[in-house]
Amino acid sequence: MPVVELRGIKKVFPGVVANDRVSLSLEQGEILALLGENGAGKSTLMNVVYGLLSADSGEILVDGVPVKIKSPRDAIDLGIGMVHQHFMLIEPLTVTENIVMGREPGRFGVIDFKAARDKVREISTRYGLKVDPDARILDLPVGMQQRVEILKALYQGARVLILDEPTAVLTPHEVRELFAVVRSLVNEGLAVVFITHKLEEVMAVADRILVMRAGAAVGETRPSDTDEIGLARMMVGRDVVLDIEKTSVTVGAPVLQVDDLRVLDDRKLEAVKGVSFEIRAGEIVAIAGVSGNGQTELVDALVGLRRPASGTIRLKDTDITRASARSSIEAGVSHIPEDRHRRGLVLEFDLAENLLIGDHRVAPYATRGIMHTRSVRTMARKRIDDYDIRTPSEHVLAGNLSGGNQQKVVVAREIGRDPELLVAAQPTRGLDVGAIEFVHGQILNERARGKAVLLISLELEEI
Ligand SMILES: Nc1ncnc2c1ncn2[C@@H]1O[C@H](COP(=O)(O)OP(=O)(O)OP(=O)(O)O)[C@@H](O)[C@H]1O
Ligand SMILES: [Mg+2]
Repeated sequence: MPVVELRGIKKVFPGVVANDRVSLSLEQGEILALLGENGAGKSTLMNVVYGLLSADSGEILVDGVPVKIKSPRDAIDLGIGMVHQHFMLIEPLTVTENIVMGREPGRFGVIDFKAARDKVREISTRYGLKVDPDARILDLPVGMQQRVEILKALYQGARVLILDEPTAVLTPHEVRELFAVVRSLVNEGLAVVFITHKLEEVMAVADRILVMRAGAAVGETRPSDTDEIGLARMMVGRDVVLDIEKTSVTVGAPVLQVDDLRVLDDRKLEAVKGVSFEIRAGEIVAIAGVSGNGQTELVDALVGLRRPASGTIRLKDTDITRASARSSIEAGVSHIPEDRHRRGLVLEFDLAENLLIGDHRVAPYATRGIMHTRSVRTMARKRIDDYDIRTPSEHVLAGNLSGGNQQKVVVAREIGRDPELLVAAQPTRGLDVGAIEFVHGQILNERARGKAVLLISLELEEI
């Protein structure tokens, strides 16, 4: 008997059928990969299972019994846990404190921290999670924070674990470690739903694969019965080019010149220690290192979000070492930030407004402080079209788009501005194969047009 079974789940949002009578079953001891293009309805379906959204119709059965899941509390009580792409941990607190939070205290309203700590350590050892119960969240790298989320779900008694794009934020090494953890979970009898866009991961980790397209489940397969090309075709409904061809471009004059740059991090420690490099017109320079080695501080300094301690940054003939974020945009620097929620988008603004951020004071969108709604709308519609942003209209709030479509909005805006220098951090994070193909094409196009590109990526293949 399946641990979880969905029958005909339907969920409609204004203008979109996010889930169109989707059925699936999940067996104990298996890893089910959920695959589909950006906006296909994967997160919606799993949010229904976890009680964050309620379906318009359809049934959920747990251990063969029909259940109503009205909140995450209900889901947790039924043994269903979920780890979101954006973690929900409280940074100043320790691992144990985060894990016991939200759990009812013991008798007399007292939380038994000693017992909690022992249990955290025990679960951590059992599944090879290697998390220190006393570490503070803010001192842990992203991969470890994710393990804390997994540990929290296990502590709460999860038998079913849903992971929504867990590898998007991880380095290749952390990905391999996560796979080992997930394997040991299913070996102990748990069931795991794994959402990812990376086809090689699906092939490596899944027992079974369910493909969704435009809200509907369109097929099921196993890694032994398909390959990456087959999966891409099932997802997109057409052939996708998985390798990009780079044409050769003649390199021109320097666009960006960085000289002996020193930048401090938030703790006032020197994170960028006297870095010098240049990027010429028609060049893409990539930084491949593991995050936490000064990339963030370097990027912040380049785009005007952090004042360097010393050194110079020149964009063509302009010294932008101490430029503000706005004057850096005006000078011709575009930035695709690492964290689209914190920096890339205003989730409460609609799509057209988000596509305009940074250009909202300049022609043709505004003159002397007056906004030209018509030209804004035309621009928004064109970019939605060009970048295949899946949305019913430009009036949808950014927060209501699927994760990948939010990323496309940021990319569309930053490249659409026609910059001299594009600083792109993880530009294809969370994108499906078709969208990656498109964004890579756009970046190569910038290069062909004699622009300079700084690419920061965890993925060696992308580089
Ligand atoms: N709260 C909401 N309000 C309105 N529309 C929504 C909301 N949440 C999701 N949608 C829409 O439902 C559709 C499915 O979105 P969902 O987030 O499930 O996609 P996804 O498969 O997870 O995509 P991605 O790979 O980009 O994360 C999208 O068209 C999205 O815009
Ligand atoms: Mg999603």
